[in-house]
Amino acid sequence: MSRTILYIILLFGFVTASGFSVYYYKQSQVDDEKITEAFTSEPDLPLYHFALIGEEMNHEYWRLVGEGAKKAEENHEVFVEYGGPKRSNPDEQLKLFDIAIKSKVDGIIVQALNDQFTPLIDQAVKQGIPVVTIDTDSPESMRDVYIGTDNYLAGQLAGKALVEDTKGEATIGVISGSFDHVLHQLRVKGFTDIVEQVDGIEIVAIEQSDISRVDVEETAFNMLTEHEHITAFYGTSSYNGVGIVAAAKSLKRENEMYVITFDAIDENIQLLENGDIDAIVEQQPFEMGYRSVEKMLAMIEDKPVQDVYHTDLTIIRKLDLPNRNRQKDGSS
Ligand code: BGC
Repeated sequence: MSRTILYIILLFGFVTASGFSVYYYKQSQVDDEKITEAFTSEPDLPLYHFALIGEEMNHEYWRLVGEGAKKAEENHEVFVEYGGPKRSNPDEQLKLFDIAIKSKVDGIIVQALNDQFTPLIDQAVKQGIPVVTIDTDSPESMRDVYIGTDNYLAGQLAGKALVEDTKGEATIGVISGSFDHVLHQLRVKGFTDIVEQVDGIEIVAIEQSDISRVDVEETAFNMLTEHEHITAFYGTSSYNGVGIVAAAKSLKRENEMYVITFDAIDENIQLLENGDIDAIVEQQPFEMGYRSVEKMLAMIEDKPVQDVYHTDLTIIRKLDLPNRNRQKDGSS
C-alpha cells in the first residue's frame, strides 16, 4: 500500500472521530440544560390554595358541595382542599379550621355551625385570610361573605307548606337536627313563627336528633308513643324524614302521618315517590360549593362582592317529581 493511501485512511479516521466527539459534546450540553431546567423551574401549581370545611363527608349533601367546588377548580387556577369529619363532629371541624389558618391557605370556606366558630373566623380574617361561610352563616363574625340557604326563610317555607297541605289542621312533632346548631335553630324558629298563627295547628313536642339517622328514629318513636295524637312531623335535617317514616311504620301510623323534611337526597326522593314523605325543602348544595370558590376568588382579585348570597329554596311534592325527572334527563 502506498504511503498516500495510508495517509488518506488516517485522515478519514481522524475526521470521523472528531465529528463524533463534537456531536456527543453538543448532545451532552443539551441534556445538561434539560436537567438544570427540570430542577430549577416551578411545577405548574395553581395560583391559589383554599380550604373548604364541611360537616359530614359521608353525606350526599356534602358530596354535592364538594362536586360544586371541584367544578370551580376546573374552571379557575385554584386548588380546593376539601375536608371534614365523616360524621357530624363540630370539634373536628374546628381542628381542621385551626390547621387551615396555621397552614396559611389563601382562603377558608367553612360552615359556621355555632358560635364556637366565631373566634377562629375572626382570627383568620385578622391574619389576612379571607373567610366565606357556607350553608350556615355567622353574621356577627368578621367573615367576608356568606353563601347558602336563608335558614329562617327555609323554616317559614316549610311551615307554609305544612299549613297548606294539612289545610291548617295538625298536631305536630318537630325534630331539630341539633339544638346547638344555628341553622337548625333558625329552621325551627321560621317554622314555628308561621304555624303558630294558625288556630287548628299545635306543636306538641320539639326534640333533637343529633343529626344521626339512628337517633332520629328513636326520637320519633318516643314522640309518637308519648303524644298519641301527632298527625304531622317537621324534620330540619336530611335524615329526619327517613327516621320519622321508619318510626311511624313500626307503630303502623304511617298512613295518617304528614311528613316534611329537608334535602332532595336520593333516599328522601324515594320516600316522596312512595308517598311516605309529603314534602321536601330542597337546597342547592352544588351551587353553594361552586359559588363559594368563585366569590373567594373574586374577593382576592379585588372584585366587588356582596355580603350575603342566598341560594334558591324549593318545596318539592310528589306532584313535582315528573317535572324534575324531565328536567334532569333533558326531555321536555
Ligand atoms: C344542612 C347541612 C347538614 C346536612 C346534613 C343539610 O340540610 O343544610 O348543614 O350538614 O343537612 O345533615
